Amino acid sequence: MNKTELLKAVSLFWDLKDEELGYIADKMISKKFENGNLIFLEESEGENLFFVVEGSVKITRLSKDGREVILAMLNAGDFFGEMSLLDGEARSANVIALEKTEVLILNRHDFLEVLHNYPQIAIQLLKEMTSRLRKSDRQIVSLSLSDAEKRIALCIIRFADEQGMIRNGKVTVPKVPIQQDIANMAGTSRETVSRAMGLLAEEKYIERHGRELIILDYKNFIKEFDS
Ligand code: CMP
Repeated sequence: MNKTELLKAVSLFWDLKDEELGYIADKMISKKFENGNLIFLEESEGENLFFVVEGSVKITRLSKDGREVILAMLNAGDFFGEMSLLDGEARSANVIALEKTEVLILNRHDFLEVLHNYPQIAIQLLKEMTSRLRKSDRQIVSLSLSDAEKRIALCIIRFADEQGMIRNGKVTVPKVPIQQDIANMAGTSRETVSRAMGLLAEEKYIERHGRELIILDYKNFIKEFDS
């Protein structure tokens, strides 16, 4: 697929016409990463904006005692690296590929020019940043819960929200993160994630087929764990 086609999946550009997308695509370069590759490091200088066109990444920071804390996971169609470009500060977090991942990269100068020429992108950017703030707010509240099973259930709701497909009241999440990454998001251990997922399956809240996860009655799941 050419760069313009790849950019069609990026929510930031949904309001743009093909020729406008082509103009932006011409300014971008593509880069590929393997699972576990560091895309950039927290505190480094930020000069570029990244668009995920294939694969997924995790946004992480290290806690004082050296544990990885996952702030978010981003999939194809998402972008990252905008914070440093907008406020001129260092990178706020590490970004690591979670699988084979392709990104398109736009430099600061071109990003600012594109924002100036297509102000509707700024509106989409604000919408996305607001959505991220809401998710972070939810995560802060969730992390203050003492019940690890509930924190894990809230992570599952987040995955459903971000990549789920709903059908007849069931939500299918095609690829849930590995258990260690869910643990690092929910502030618990991999063993607890394994136990909690087992319990949720036993209680018929979820079904698992490899990395695919199905929430069997989404409304009920939300009522049970997010109210
Ligand atoms: P920047 O600070 O340039 O580099 C790290 C990037 O991670 C940041 O820009 C955002 O794009 C992204 N990021 C940081 N915090 C979050 C979050 N809570 N949710 C989603 N993305 C984030």
